[in-house]
Amino acid sequence: MISNIITMSGVKSLKDVDVSGKRVLIRVDFNVPMDSHFNISDDSRIRAVLPTINYCIDHNACSITLVSHLGNPKNGPEERFSLRHVQKRLERLLQKKVEFLNELDELKVQNTQCSTERIFLLENIRFDAGEKKNDPELSRRLGELCDIYVNDAFGTSHRKHASTYGITDYVSVKVAGFLMMREIEAFTKALEKPVRPIALVVGGSKISSKITLLTAVMQKVDKLIIGGAMSNTFLQALGYDMQASLVESDYLQTAKEVLEEAKAHNVKVYLPVDVVITDSIEHPVDIRITPVQDVLEGFRSVDIGPATLKLFSEAIELSNTIIWNGPMGIYEIDRFSKGTYKLATAIAESYAYTIVGGGDTADAVEKAGEKDKFSFISTGGGASLELLEGKILPGFEKLDRCDIQ
Ligand code: 3PG
Repeated sequence: MISNIITMSGVKSLKDVDVSGKRVLIRVDFNVPMDSHFNISDDSRIRAVLPTINYCIDHNACSITLVSHLGNPKNGPEERFSLRHVQKRLERLLQKKVEFLNELDELKVQNTQCSTERIFLLENIRFDAGEKKNDPELSRRLGELCDIYVNDAFGTSHRKHASTYGITDYVSVKVAGFLMMREIEAFTKALEKPVRPIALVVGGSKISSKITLLTAVMQKVDKLIIGGAMSNTFLQALGYDMQASLVESDYLQTAKEVLEEAKAHNVKVYLPVDVVITDSIEHPVDIRITPVQDVLEGFRSVDIGPATLKLFSEAIELSNTIIWNGPMGIYEIDRFSKGTYKLATAIAESYAYTIVGGGDTADAVEKAGEKDKFSFISTGGGASLELLEGKILPGFEKLDRCDIQ
């Protein structure tokens, strides 16, 4: 059976079409983190699409329109979700003027006066309620604005929205941008053509949100390293009393089944042997390291312990491909962050091909100061998870294909 990744890698990319003299609309993901003064704290997602924008500039596209969402506005325009906050940074990175447009109709007028190197940034597309509903009317209006549609919003490619999916019905040429292709290449290398042994490191709070992933990768990986709060559910299922720790009691049977399935597929599972426990997350008075069989009454586990770190690091050292999705503890709180940061260093120092699912894990790797040592850091949180789960991402689904002329 052809995998989802191989299917997605068969789409046409920007390199396969001639943009010269054409109006190009690029769906980007400028959903970047900002502080309360609208300062962008991480512009990786903007930097990641510069090759696509620059390619269109270099190849004389007549206009380039950038469409993105920012956050999740519920009832139309809101200052804190305006893409105006991104305009300056984009101009600085591109070293070009970027014209900001509030309305699609404004763009329609501007875009007819086609001249080279005009770059437009449209206001947050989610200010229009039609975006998330994949409204055909909005899709059509967007489609009308371009001759070529380029999807380079990998982070949003798991969404079936008007600008990521519906628009493809209204444009005759639709291709993937370079970021989309780079993401697919990285996951192909890790999952389709891996140098074995291959280890999947999973963390995060809930087994329920990663169960599809765990089942999907069972036939692909050699080692499963499980940390974070989701390991509590596995440990409880094995008979350890995790006391006040976050445990999903509805998933104890599921956890047992995952362990059995791993055994059946010869996948070696690594679980914590010691954990950091605390009497309170918000106001900790008592923080200790304890073996998993001795978690104190009323205490909860918030990070992996040093013996676990050693165990996980050894498993990592002997792997040639490592995929990491999910932190090992509550890394946002300094005192519970050691396990995640030290694991980031262990993976970064390995000789393996190392790939990180986006979201929290990418943030943790950045904060650990190890970002540059990873082979690839995905710009997609939910998107990379769905890709690992074996799904075909809607953002790729209806793009032109190389295998169909
Ligand atoms: C993300 O940050 O994961 C993407 O931009 C998608 O955002 P969404 O989860 O609000 O659709």
